[in-house]
Amino acid sequence: MTLSVVQVNTPGGNYPIHIAANQLKKLALSVPDNATTIALITNPTVFALYGQTVLEALQATGKKVIQVQIPDGEAYKTSQTLDQIFDNLLQNRLDRKAVIVALGGGVVGDISGFAAACFMRGIRFIQVPTTLLSQVDSSVGGKTAINHPLGKNMIGAFYQPIAVEIDIHVLKSLPKREIAAGLAEVVKYGMITDAPFLDWCLENITALNALDDAAIQYAVQRSCELKAYVVGQDERESGLRAILNFGHTFGHAIEAGLGYGKWLHGEAVGCGMIMAAELSAQVCGLSAQSVQKVRDVVAAIGCPTTPPDWEASKWLDLMGLDKKTEGGQLRFVLLPELGESVVQAVDADTVKKVLAKF
Ligand SMILES: NC(=O)c1ccc[n+]([C@@H]2O[C@H](COP(=O)([O-])OP(=O)(O)OC[C@H]3O[C@@H](n4cnc5c(N)ncnc54)[C@H](O)[C@@H]3O)[C@@H](O)[C@H]2O)c1
Ligand SMILES: [Zn+2]
Repeated sequence: MTLSVVQVNTPGGNYPIHIAANQLKKLALSVPDNATTIALITNPTVFALYGQTVLEALQATGKKVIQVQIPDGEAYKTSQTLDQIFDNLLQNRLDRKAVIVALGGGVVGDISGFAAACFMRGIRFIQVPTTLLSQVDSSVGGKTAINHPLGKNMIGAFYQPIAVEIDIHVLKSLPKREIAAGLAEVVKYGMITDAPFLDWCLENITALNALDDAAIQYAVQRSCELKAYVVGQDERESGLRAILNFGHTFGHAIEAGLGYGKWLHGEAVGCGMIMAAELSAQVCGLSAQSVQKVRDVVAAIGCPTTPPDWEASKWLDLMGLDKKTEGGQLRFVLLPELGESVVQAVDADTVKKVLAKF
């Protein structure tokens, strides 16, 4: 299999995304010659699977490699863990020319990226995402963050990596639900910007679910290209980047209402995209056939298609669409047709009409 390269160009930095099978073994190539020390940040789960391969690859640079293992889980994307990372970097006397390598899913990527943004006012970092969600979404675009007790991702920075290194074979050790959740974000890109890609996903769904090399490599590549395009236009989410939140208003309501972690983020977004497609039909004329296609693809990747059975008032509360919201309106990403997206304010009555369909 050949190497796919996607270039990301933003005001905050230009960098390549390399995608291939066995890319972990080639990590040394992405480490700059003038790097002093390499700090590998990962968690015990990922280290047990890929740590040795990655350590060997990094040690081939001849540079000093230190390891920082942080506990596994969203619950540890905190300032305490960030401090633990800083303690390690300082104890090992890393300097401004050190490089961080973030090996893991979105949790490791987000906190390592934020650590890189802060340490000595910014050192270089390389994303090595190991979940499908992190390969197609969180490792690309430079959003880094930790959680605060008062809100998720509330403390962070826009900080671009110097490279993203994606090994599609690491996906083989992920549970099936994690694959489904990642595929939800993959098909999202088709729905919002590229209808032919959505059709391609539907046609290749069996190969995608089975993690066939050629199919998954193309899906990751196309997703990265589409996200890179959007982020290249609007790095700091002052406009276009918001379309990446398609399905997320309903999805976040599901995650919050059920309790975080009950459904995976991607599963909630999958179901949320069906709801957002129905809302698009109501508000901006998405055809019934297209709504059905959204439903079919979400079902085919193995995400839930039936939202929790809640009163409309609970949904509106969870989405922040209550009396406090100005004029009782909320902004949604909607699809006038598949492959095109707009951000539009919708009033509570219209949202209620759509909720009644489920
Ligand atoms: N920065 C962004 O733009 C952005 C975008 C979307 C999501 N996020 C963030 O990403 C995080 C979610 O990321 P995630 O879904 O990757 O979750 P995660 O990082 O928690 O990974 C999920 C689980 O899979 C394990 N794992 C990782 N790679 C594995 C592999 N190859 N084989 C087996 N197990 C493996 C992890 O240790 C973890 O237990 C959230 O914190 C979210 O806020 C950030
Ligand atoms: Zn998402």
